Amino acid sequence: MSVTTKSEAEIGKMRVAGRLAAEVLDYIAPQVKPGITTGKLNDLCHTYMLEVQGSIPAPLNYAPPGYKPFPKSICTSVNHQVCHGIPGERVLKHGDSLNIDITVIKDGFHGDTSRMFHLGEPGIQARRLVEVTYECMWRGIARVRSGARLGDVGAAIQTHAEQHGYSIVREFCGHGIGRKFHEEPQVLHYGKAGTGLLLEPGMIFTIEPMINAGKSGIRELADGWTIVTKDHSLSAQWEHTVLVTDSGYEVLTVSAGAPPPPQGLVA
Ligand code: MF3
Ligand code: CO
Ligand code: CO
Repeated sequence: MSVTTKSEAEIGKMRVAGRLAAEVLDYIAPQVKPGITTGKLNDLCHTYMLEVQGSIPAPLNYAPPGYKPFPKSICTSVNHQVCHGIPGERVLKHGDSLNIDITVIKDGFHGDTSRMFHLGEPGIQARRLVEVTYECMWRGIARVRSGARLGDVGAAIQTHAEQHGYSIVREFCGHGIGRKFHEEPQVLHYGKAGTGLLLEPGMIFTIEPMINAGKSGIRELADGWTIVTKDHSLSAQWEHTVLVTDSGYEVLTVSAGAPPPPQGLVA
């Protein structure tokens, strides 16, 4: 399999799936408060997707080669958890920071997006890490256009993260997306400008940098899914699904509640 470009009809369906994924985050945002469990957030999102949107939660029973089926409908990754956290009995408390990652399937197409949330007032460290990670995602997105290369995206992300003394998780990356959850290409969040895949109009992929306050090392928990930082430092992630256009990019995972791009960054 190689990198595909999507037709206008397919792009239309990806716009719908992307918006629905973002709208799940809009829906759940007011519920993200101290005292709620990650399992309750999962259940609320699950019901919203099925009953309100008529969408399918892509994570539920997702089982790539070498993995057991993911048991829940969303991913919730708290504090030093990097990604793929499994919702459960954990009670969120003041000072936690949380990534919620939503992937829906609508009409056969996937939309994939995640945001960070702070529970109450964040500490200065968590606030800064989450801000800089958001800027990293957008600096990557801002490089997307026909004729650019994937290395331009990775380099923009890496430069900004490392300028702040943060490190980039290397084992997981963004990905092509469409009828399949994870397609080619792999979108590395580090790299060298001017190298890598040449972008063409109609390509669709995610940009989803995972940035650690400490070292880049990770490990997988015994549940077979949850990824944590080896040094227990805080980790943050944001994700959008992006279409390559002639003149630049179109973010597909947009909704009324999606935070705006950082000021002064994006033309
Ligand atoms: N949504 C994640 C991504 O951005 C993948 C989660 S796989 C799951 O690629 F099985 F954990 F849901
Ligand atoms: Co993704
Ligand atoms: Co995701």
